[in-house]
Amino acid sequence: MQNAKLKKRVLSGIQPTGKLHLGNLIGAIENWVKLQDKYECFFFIADLHALTSTYDDPKNLKDDIQGVAIDLLASGIDPKKCVLFKQSDLMEHAELHLLFSMVTPVPWLERVPTYKSKIEELKGKDLGTYGFLGYPVLQAADILIYKADFVPVGQDQLPHIELTREIARRFNNFYGNIFPEPKDLLTQFPTLPGLDGRKMSKSYNNTIAISDPPDVIKKKVSTMITDPARIKKEDKGHPEVCSVYDFYKVFGKDLTDVVASECKEAKRGCVACKKQLAQVLIDYMAPIHKKRAQLTEDRGQIDKILQDGAAKAKKIAAKSLLEAKKAMGLI
Ligand code: TRP
Ligand code: SF4
Repeated sequence: MQNAKLKKRVLSGIQPTGKLHLGNLIGAIENWVKLQDKYECFFFIADLHALTSTYDDPKNLKDDIQGVAIDLLASGIDPKKCVLFKQSDLMEHAELHLLFSMVTPVPWLERVPTYKSKIEELKGKDLGTYGFLGYPVLQAADILIYKADFVPVGQDQLPHIELTREIARRFNNFYGNIFPEPKDLLTQFPTLPGLDGRKMSKSYNNTIAISDPPDVIKKKVSTMITDPARIKKEDKGHPEVCSVYDFYKVFGKDLTDVVASECKEAKRGCVACKKQLAQVLIDYMAPIHKKRAQLTEDRGQIDKILQDGAAKAKKIAAKSLLEAKKAMGLI
C-alpha cells in the first residue's frame, strides 16, 4: 500500500461504442499495459460517455461493455496490477459531474474542438443534447475525482485535458484547493490506417476488431487499399503510400526491409503481400485470442473483476466527492 502511495497516479478511460480494434490496441491498450507496471493505474470503461452518442439506440451497449472488458483483459490489462472498472458503477462520477456543471461556463464547452467535429462526423444523429455538450465535464469529473497525476490519451483528447485543468482551476478558485491539475501523457504512435486507407475508426467502419477471428482477418486484409499506382504486378510499387506496408511497420517490423525492397523492385505482388500480412496479424493476435476465448467462457469472472475494481475505485472517489460537497457548502 505504501508503495502505491509513492507511485504517481494514472487514469484513463475508453468508450464502449462498438468493438475495440487494432488501432485501439496499439494506440491505447498496449500503452496502458506498460503503464500498469510503473504507476498506480485506474482504467475504466466509459459507458456513460458512450451513451452521449448512442442514447437513441443503446441495444448493443451491454454487449459492447462486456466485449471491451474482455478485450482489455485479453490484451494484458491485469486487475492485479491496476484498477479496472465501469464508470456507471460509481455514482460518484455522475455526482461530481453535476457539481462541476455548476461552475463550467457553457461557452467553454461550445469551444471544445471535438464538440463541433463530432457533430459533423456523426451527421444525421441529433447531438444537440445537454449530455453531449457536457461530455468533457463528465470527463473532467472522471479525472479529477481520482486526483490523477497523468492521463494517457491521444492527440484528439488534449483539449479535454486542458478543459479539465480549467475546470479544476475555477473550482479551486471558488472553493479552495481541492483538485490538482492533471498532466496529459500523450501517446506517441503513428495512426493506423483502416481498410480504406483513412484512419482506422469505428465511425468509418474500416476496422479490424481485436475479436475478429483468423478467417475474418484474412478477408478484411484482402480488401485493403494498396499503392493505387500499382495496377499490374510488374509495376514498381511505393510502399510508403501503402496501408498494407503501414501495418508491417507496426506488426511485422522484422519484415519491413524485405517487403519494401521487393515491392519497389516489383518482385512481390500485392495479393501475396496481403496474405503474408494476414498471417503476421493472426500470429500477433493468437495469444490475445486464446485469452479471449477463456474469458468468454466465464462471464461471471468478468463481472467479478469489474465489481472488485469499482469497490477499489469507490474508496478514492467517495473521498474526493465528500471534499467537493463540503467545499461547496452542501455538508
Ligand atoms: N473521451 C475519451 C475518449 O473518447 C474517453 C474518456 C472518458 C476518458 N473519460 C476519460 C479518457 C477520462 C481519459 C480520461 O477517448
Ligand atoms: Fe503494398 Fe505490399 Fe503491394 Fe507493395 S506489394 S503495394 S507493400 S501490398
